[in-house]
Amino acid sequence: MTRTPQAAAEEAATELRSRTGVDSYDVALVMGSGWAPAADLIGDAQHELASAELPGFLPPAVEGHSGTVRSIADGDRNVLAFLGRTHLYEGHGTDAVVHGVRTAVAAGARTVVLTNAAGGINADYAVGSPVLIADHINMTAKSPLTGATFVDLTETYSPELRAIAREVDPGLREGVYAAMPGPHFETPAEIRMLRAMGADLVGMSTVLEAIAARAAGARVLGMSLVTNIAAGLQDANLDHEDVLATGRDSAAAVGRLLADIVRRF
Ligand code: 6GU
Repeated sequence: MTRTPQAAAEEAATELRSRTGVDSYDVALVMGSGWAPAADLIGDAQHELASAELPGFLPPAVEGHSGTVRSIADGDRNVLAFLGRTHLYEGHGTDAVVHGVRTAVAAGARTVVLTNAAGGINADYAVGSPVLIADHINMTAKSPLTGATFVDLTETYSPELRAIAREVDPGLREGVYAAMPGPHFETPAEIRMLRAMGADLVGMSTVLEAIAARAAGARVLGMSLVTNIAAGLQDANLDHEDVLATGRDSAAAVGRLLADIVRRF
């Protein structure tokens, strides 16, 4: 029998512990497109390594996705930040997509914060604003789980953690995130479909990691940065460069917010 994904994550966690000297992490952060600079505002970085130096991690495939792992001391807590992630559209399968989250949980993290860049479907969202993920719609037709793992996803995104986030910023919006497989953006007709289904945000990540984190028993906070308005809702075309530029412009503000939230976990 081949090695299980959990065994692969244990192996990566063992290497991570020996490389960082940290025995157990409390919180793990996955910093999506545009969010990497926000990690600079969280605690004191102790170690940083290329993710691909850990067993089972792939080198980053997309410009603007950095592919490093940072070990951070934040007060008395150890925080692990992945700067960049593996996306489903890279074609390496769901285990590759969730390997970071599984590794973080294997290294002790009971709280996982998933961030991403998303297109705004809800007309109330301003470009450059952070939105808390209240729930998701998984349109990837994939699950990271196999076998009889009937995980309850009623409270995928922890109500307790969302309440903490709203204490920090009472004006923080919440919404439903729809994950599409990508790598292309949606057609206007697909965006109308997603809006009719109840989606407020659309992106290409996060949901498989959230499922894997819940299956592993961790609590999850999700946050999107609205980098653009989704297709067909305004008179403009979509561009990966604009997504990255909005991330750069918003990094300081969303970084401070995220740092304040994480400190209260
Ligand atoms: Cl409009 N769609 C998807 N799928 N991902 C995005 C996006 C849109 N904007 C940022 N990321």
